[in-house]
Amino acid sequence: MASLAGKHAFVTGGATGIGLACAQALHAAGAQVTLAGRNATALQAAAGASMGWVCCDVSDPPAVQAALAAAAERSGRIDILVNNAGQAASAPFLKTDGALWQRMLDVNLGGVFHCSQAALPGMLAAGWGRIVNIASTAGLTGYRYVAAYCAAKHGVVGLTRALALEVAAQGVTVNAVCPGFTDTAIVAEAVANIVQTTGRTTEQARASLAAANPQQRLVTPDEVAHTVLWLCQDAAAAINGQSIAVAGGEVM
Ligand code: NAI
Repeated sequence: MASLAGKHAFVTGGATGIGLACAQALHAAGAQVTLAGRNATALQAAAGASMGWVCCDVSDPPAVQAALAAAAERSGRIDILVNNAGQAASAPFLKTDGALWQRMLDVNLGGVFHCSQAALPGMLAAGWGRIVNIASTAGLTGYRYVAAYCAAKHGVVGLTRALALEVAAQGVTVNAVCPGFTDTAIVAEAVANIVQTTGRTTEQARASLAAANPQQRLVTPDEVAHTVLWLCQDAAAAINGQSIAVAGGEVM
């Protein structure tokens, strides 16, 4: 793939899982990378000597503005924004209280809104930009017991489509990547939850999630990152407003 040398990427939730895989792929392609998240120790360890990092909670608009401004100071602007930070709390619909509902919307959807508002002006001024939102197959179809998460991720897909049209003629593309069950901490938590509520073994719980994927396996973080990297290339300039499932054919 072509080099991203000279580009600066800002990856939210970048210290772990899919976010870290995206950051490493972008960095390997030559981009300068800033990781953003809530845990300074985890960020520092993930960034090592070659990437920058900044603390922020993506659901806190002033913190997001300050973090993007601090990151932009490193190179003058943000060229690539990967909106990856997310949480996937589960509960049956009638046990989904207002606090859980609000948290899912604030982090998964509000975070994309706040970070995109902060990063977009610099991209428009430069006439080049990439916003890649890590949504989910839960943004394209329904799943039991995650109504709030599903609603938020469907919102991310809608926001992606609307913003993509607004900026289409200005050198900026906005796309969503929609992973199926991917082998990260989020799936580990889901597995623990299944074990606790159903009495299944860990292996059985993992297999039940993998069974949703026609390839009968969990997606890897690197597979998601590869799609993000492709969308950030000049060669992908005509891909805009899309929500691309990385899920072995689970949704089509
Ligand atoms: P993860 O738990 O390793 O990553 C989520 C990251 O977001 C963590 O670093 C976490 O600290 C950070 N984060 C959470 N709330 C935050 C907040 N308020 N402000 C800043 N950072 C925050 O799990 P994973 O799987 O890597 O998740 C990354 C994204 O992928 C999420 O948006 C998730 O919804 C999405 N996804 C994951 C799937 C999976 O099966 N693992 C499937 C589909 C989508």
